This record gives sequence, C-alpha cells and structure tokens, in this order.
Amino acid sequence: MRSCERCGLCRSRQQTVFGSGSPSAPWLIVGEAPGAEEDLRGEPFVGQAGRLLDAMLAAIGLDRGRDVFITNVLKCRPPGNRNPEPDEVARCAPFLRRQIELLAPSGILVMGRFAAQALLETDASVAGLRNRVHRYAVGNAELPLVVTYHPAYLLRNPADKAKAWADLCLALARLPRQRPPG
Ligand code: URA
Repeated sequence: MRSCERCGLCRSRQQTVFGSGSPSAPWLIVGEAPGAEEDLRGEPFVGQAGRLLDAMLAAIGLDRGRDVFITNVLKCRPPGNRNPEPDEVARCAPFLRRQIELLAPSGILVMGRFAAQALLETDASVAGLRNRVHRYAVGNAELPLVVTYHPAYLLRNPADKAKAWADLCLALARLPRQRPPG
C-alpha cells in the first residue's frame, strides 16, 4: 500500500495512513480519509476530529489503543481536505476490504457518509443509515455494522451529538465485544 499509485492522491500525500490500534480488537472503526495532521503523522484520527473520537470511545468505556482498530476509506489525504472523489474511493476500496478480511473484527462502526456509502454500496445519507444494524459480508461471515456521524461533522453540528450517543449505545448493545474464537 505504501507504494500505491492507483490514484492521483499519491502525488500530494506525505505518506499513506494505513490504520492504528489493536489488530486483535473486536471493533473496527472506519472513517473517511486522513487530514493534514494524519498525513504528517501517518496515523488516523490524530487531529481535532480524532480528539472527539477518543472522547466518544471513552464515553462508552473503550480505548483506541486496546479495544478498536481505526482506519479510513481513503489511505491518502485529499488535498485541502476536500471530499473523496468516487474514483478515489473505488481505487482504494480493495485495501479496506482486504484489511477487513485480515483483521476479522467482530463488528464495524462506520463514521460518516463516505465510509457508510463505500461499505454499504449505497448513496443513502447517514440520517437514513443510522439507528439500525447493517450486515457486511466478508468470507463466510456477516459482520454487524453500525453507522454514525463523523466526528468532524459533529464538531460543526453539535446538536446531532445526542444522535451519535444513541448510535454508540446501539453499537455497544449489538457489536460483540469479544472476538469469535479462532
Ligand atoms: N477524519 C477522518 O475521517 N479520518 C482521519 O483519519 C482523520 C479525520
């Protein structure tokens, strides 16, 4: 992945941002794309949105280094933090799919429209996708998947934090905290 040149983002990135956390964690968290700080540090969610994500996880008793693995749909920063282009998402998607196969989490928490649309292959909004448990097929398994708002969106729209809290409670109730044996 580090040498990927599948799309134009390879020309402006400092580095690829693969993901971080515990590879044996039960939950996988999927965001949108690295921002400026992530691009510099090579780690996902280390900027302002990341601090809110850490607080959201702490609110449900989870620690980012121990209980989750965090990654993004795009592994490279879109310049100026613009939205991902459909073509970039399509070219990067095989990396995320393979990551999910290898990590084999017990459940997936999806943050924001771009990640939800990419994983669920839909153009529905977060409002239309949240508040229920989806299934993500990988190998013989169907992983439970919960969609919520992206932390950067919540920083701009704090009124929706109550809905994000409800989504976290749903995730806590429906995404297993144990990994399947084997
Ligand atoms: N926003 C994301 O979606 N991912 C990051 O890694 C940082 C900010």
